[in-house]
Amino acid sequence: MEIKTIKEINNLVREYEKNNASPEFDINAPVNLIGWVRSNRCSGKILFISFSDGSRLNSIQLVLKSDELEGSFEEIKNARTGAAIIVSGNIVINKNDDEGQRFEILVKKAKLLKQSSEDYPIQKKEHSMEFLREVAHVRPRTNKFYSIMNVRSELAFAIHNFFHLNGFKWVSSPIITANDAEGAGEAFNVTTNEGENAFFNRKASLTVSGQLHAEAYAQAFKRVYTFGPTFRAEKSHTNKHLAEFWMVEPELAFCDLEKLMILIESFVKFTIKTILKRCSEEIAFFKKLEGNENIDEKLNLVVESNFQKLTYSQAISILKEAIGNGKANFEDNNIFFGMDLKTEHERYICEKYVNGPVFIYNYPKQIKSFYMKLNDDGTTVAACDLLVPGIGELVGGSERENDYYKIENRAKELNIPLDDIQWYLDLRKYGYNKSAGFGLGFERLVMYICGVENIRDTIPFPRFNGNLKF
Ligand code: 4AD
Ligand code: MG
Repeated sequence: MEIKTIKEINNLVREYEKNNASPEFDINAPVNLIGWVRSNRCSGKILFISFSDGSRLNSIQLVLKSDELEGSFEEIKNARTGAAIIVSGNIVINKNDDEGQRFEILVKKAKLLKQSSEDYPIQKKEHSMEFLREVAHVRPRTNKFYSIMNVRSELAFAIHNFFHLNGFKWVSSPIITANDAEGAGEAFNVTTNEGENAFFNRKASLTVSGQLHAEAYAQAFKRVYTFGPTFRAEKSHTNKHLAEFWMVEPELAFCDLEKLMILIESFVKFTIKTILKRCSEEIAFFKKLEGNENIDEKLNLVVESNFQKLTYSQAISILKEAIGNGKANFEDNNIFFGMDLKTEHERYICEKYVNGPVFIYNYPKQIKSFYMKLNDDGTTVAACDLLVPGIGELVGGSERENDYYKIENRAKELNIPLDDIQWYLDLRKYGYNKSAGFGLGFERLVMYICGVENIRDTIPFPRFNGNLKF
């Protein structure tokens, strides 16, 4: 068997250790690797190269001895950080393993494929996240970004897997649309050089949510989800808003708010469990970062806990009480029924009051979207947000208004142009018994699982107000 990646070598060594194999265990299988130099150090007639090939987070050490090497020792000696090389040799198990390097490669043959220039921006020292954001084209070559982006990739698979296992169909909701689903006026316009309405004969924008289209498909398939990019021209300079982000939006016919909250909880737990299982190296890496020491305990706790539930009214009382007895002092201490909770309020509730994920539900209708089902009290809607420590809102969902006249009235009250959403309202005329769904910000979930402080570090090339680099 020819071994071609660091990941394969790691698996082989793991087998070797598990079987308590003798040193004669066939670890001598030839190894052929192609990849990049992370660092290169020469000590007399020996080179030590830290080498990575993208197959696994941790790099490995290559050992090259000048008098045993086939190929130019001098050429390889000059390979700089970032250079592409190809090597072949054998695995050597490290007996005195102090730096966590359980094995290394004794290289017999090596070739420099492409040198890297002296101005390569990533050096061995630790770089700040701010600096790395400026060099987003090379930051995936750092351990931090390799780990975050690998979790992101695994998470996307886990999401599709969850829905696939639970009988949901994936629907591609359109990216260009004529309606601002959330009615929040945050859509980007889509135009050509010929002017605003020239192409589609009407105003077009980038989607802020795939929900409305998902609802149409839920009426045929019962359980559907969309998972794609969404766009919002939000000028908020926070650590949790992007102008382009990915959203997961399931929609279920015949579902109410209570069942929806059960689904959200099992969905979040499933994705976390999958990452704990599939990305143990990355989680171990995050644990070593400042402020992240308990990340695995935190995630395990989420998986094992029951998410608490509070009504919006209860949340308001909790916040008032906390201010009253001096437990909390917010930038905005003006707490009243009908206010939109700010991140500081959400974080107090999940971090201080609950200390874990918490649902807030039955929000006043005036702070929520037009499509949400009005409760019997006439003032609140059957909506829920899932708040998590460190972030605040991770998920927003609701039961949808199924009454044609009520939803039409609500849209009129909010001055939403009916022409644009007539098809959506019409769904209520054709057997629309019930429907409920939620939206989860994919990058916020990556933030939460990896313990990343800024959402700009959870997507390869972040887009936000004032920034369209790369
Ligand atoms: O709460 P939102 O606005 O809900 C919707 O869009 C509904 N249509 C969802 C549905 O019921 N199908 O957004 C859903 C989630 C938020 O909870 C948040 O996690 C994320 O999307 N989100 C953002 N993430 C990054 N940057 C932004 N600017 C975001 N805005 C919302
Ligand atoms: Mg929301």
